[in-house]
Amino acid sequence: MRGQTHKWAIGAGALVGAALWVHHSRAGGTYRPGDGALWAAITGASSGIGEAFARRLAADRYHLLLIARRREQLERLADDLSRRHGVQVEVLPANLAHDTDIARVAQRLGELDRLTLLVNNAGFGTVGTFTAVSEHSQTDMIRLHTEAPARLTHSALPGMIARKQGAIINVSSTAAFFALPGNATYCATKRFLVTFSETLSIELAGRGVTVQALCPGFTRTGFHASENFRTGGKHLPQTPAFLWMTSEAVVSCSLRALGRGVVCIPGAINQLIAKTPALIPPEVIGRAMRAFGL
Ligand SMILES: NC(=O)c1ccc[n+]([C@@H]2O[C@H](COP(=O)([O-])OP(=O)(O)OC[C@H]3O[C@@H](n4cnc5c(N)ncnc54)[C@H](OP(=O)(O)O)[C@@H]3O)[C@@H](O)[C@H]2O)c1
Repeated sequence: MRGQTHKWAIGAGALVGAALWVHHSRAGGTYRPGDGALWAAITGASSGIGEAFARRLAADRYHLLLIARRREQLERLADDLSRRHGVQVEVLPANLAHDTDIARVAQRLGELDRLTLLVNNAGFGTVGTFTAVSEHSQTDMIRLHTEAPARLTHSALPGMIARKQGAIINVSSTAAFFALPGNATYCATKRFLVTFSETLSIELAGRGVTVQALCPGFTRTGFHASENFRTGGKHLPQTPAFLWMTSEAVVSCSLRALGRGVVCIPGAINQLIAKTPALIPPEVIGRAMRAFGL
């Protein structure tokens, strides 16, 4: 009888141990504020969600490498953050749809000794069907949303793995779960980021590096104020106010969720919306939208 109890206790202990190990190796660690020595790199830091990441991480004592095309915006932000929080902020103006600029940023990431967080956030949207939008915009989007994050991640990972500490946040979108007419390349490239993150997370299990695919819904940023949307957008005024989130709320959700599952969808409504393709196939939703002229 006593032997039996022992066997049960050992079995239960092994099960709890295995569950904890699986959880730990999947999580790779949760978000920790900086200690005044760690660095974070953020692409698309000159506005919106990227700027909100920069503000939050500087307040949490991370040194920052800020990347985007608009140098003045980056420099203004860098001055503000270093003055307010006493952290080092380096700006690296780059067009991440260009091969040589991706290479330049990748090299800098590889040189940063204590790079602990990489946020692949730079992105843009277009308005119009695939054939209506220029080939140039489509290929820029493919490069910016897929090639740049992949190459930057490739460059950042060796240091993180060696130090057994780090996180990659790939900013995708709820669009990743849909086939939205007028967003063929956008939906496809954002889906790439989800699958890329999920697979990478499995490969990195137990190595101290966390991967997240952050999938925001409508977020108040410069995204919908861009030239593309100003000249072609008709659907935005119809988007109800309750669907919108702030960049700060998106960033808080992301950091809170880091290491607790790969896909992070900020906001209960967005989580519900992202589940609809499980009930109705994405192409049926897409066809219905097209039929209603959305
Ligand atoms: N806002 C939303 O509703 C929403 C929803 C879901 C997902 N997202 C995603 O969130 C991410 C951030 O967008 P946001 O909403 O914060 O919009 P945003 O305010 O327009 O910010 C986009 C950022 O990307 C940078 N960027 C664009 N093209 C670039 C290029 N070729 N090279 C380097 N940087 C480039 C922009 O900086 P420069 O112009 O200075 O280069 C800017 O800093 C995007 O990936 C977007 O797809 C947004």
